[in-house]
Amino acid sequence: PLDLGVLVSGRGSNLQAILDAVAEGRLDARVRVVISNQADVEALSRAERAGVPTRVVSHRAFADRAGFDAALVSALREAGASWVVLAGFMRLLTPTFLEAFPDRVVNIHPALSPSFPGVDAQQQALDHGVKLTGCTVHLVDAGTDTGPILAQAVVPVLDGDDRAQLGARLLEMEHALLVQALGWIAEGRLELVPSAAPGGRTRARFAGVV
Ligand code: GAR
Repeated sequence: PLDLGVLVSGRGSNLQAILDAVAEGRLDARVRVVISNQADVEALSRAERAGVPTRVVSHRAFADRAGFDAALVSALREAGASWVVLAGFMRLLTPTFLEAFPDRVVNIHPALSPSFPGVDAQQQALDHGVKLTGCTVHLVDAGTDTGPILAQAVVPVLDGDDRAQLGARLLEMEHALLVQALGWIAEGRLELVPSAAPGGRTRARFAGVV
């Protein structure tokens, strides 16, 4: 099974999708620890209800990002996590963090990358007037929502949608896509394909998935 550490900042519905899939035997993984940079968030209650150890590592307790990231790495290592999932984790990670888990940090982003990176991609999609948006599961690199894409799914933007309506439609798709991608990783299907071109992007694919 995959030994997961899940980083969260808030509501934790994507975490819940992982916990449910593990509990129901649909995902061959163990959530070793849930770490939040915010105290008293719903994600922590969800982890506690599932019997998963929790930690709060507040970014405000550290003078710089390097110190915060080192504390995260220690907590993840102590818990025995070998893969890290960012499930609504709203802090950028440093290259030092990423080097501790090379090509093993997965993020869910509520847009079709490379469109709408960064904060509130749902509102960015509404403001732009796109008719289709979606969600992206990707490996994290040093950029913002830029690493190798693992899976994407499309969601329509309907006339009259507000942020809450579009967000809810996206969230349902996020939950399914994140569990699907983690399942394929757990099955050992992930392949990284370096670019032949100098400075080109590494691409990801899942063996046997069309
Ligand atoms: C989700 O929509 C997730 O895609 C987004 O935050 C929400 C967290 O919800 N993440 C980002 O925007 C990261 N750039 P959740 O806490 O209920 O999973």
